[in-house]
Amino acid sequence: MPILDDRNFEFFSHSPDQTRRLGIHLGGYLEPGDVICLEGNLGTGKTTLVQGIGQGWGTLDPVTSPTYVIVNEYRRPSTERFFHLDAYRLESALDAEYLDLDRMLVQGPMVIEWADRIKTALPDEHIWIRLSYSALEQRIMLLVPQGKRYESLVENLRRKIYGVF
Ligand SMILES: Nc1ncnc2c1ncn2[C@@H]1O[C@H](COP(=O)(O)OP(=O)(O)OP(=O)(O)O)[C@@H](O)[C@H]1O
Ligand SMILES: [Mg+2]
Repeated sequence: MPILDDRNFEFFSHSPDQTRRLGIHLGGYLEPGDVICLEGNLGTGKTTLVQGIGQGWGTLDPVTSPTYVIVNEYRRPSTERFFHLDAYRLESALDAEYLDLDRMLVQGPMVIEWADRIKTALPDEHIWIRLSYSALEQRIMLLVPQGKRYESLVENLRRKIYGVF
């Protein structure tokens, strides 16, 4: 995966709130069919980021960790849905294929925690976000877009957060 690429966006978060705010901005851009893949160890902030994304998308219900189910589904006042998948307990990409992600994506965007576990079941175009631990309250988030739509989405997100230089 290319890291030093100007299409990528490296975000340094200094608090859970800052991570949530990144998510809120990102969530505001999401449309049905969009796929956001999260990769990062335990406690790096995946769910915290998804809480922000859900809020930015406009969910009526607060986003929780999908502990007992594989996919959580959130609503907003339209028929659209926001899907939050946790692939941690999936055995393989085959399991993900049984879930029929395409059927869900018609209804709304999807965010996937532990996406690296089901890589081959995922669409080629997506935003891949690698989260890593840096210090007690610091996390590094590397956003790597695949495909034209996501390249411009990430560029818009970067401008919104840092302004145009
Ligand atoms: N900058 C930060 N961004 C996000 N979370 C942070 C940050 N600093 C500290 N934290 C803390 O780290 C924890 C992150 O938990 P979270 O559930 O979001 O991680 P996760 O990656 O989803 O973990 P899991 O793999 O267990 O699902 C929270 O307790 C949060 O308060
Ligand atoms: Mg989590």
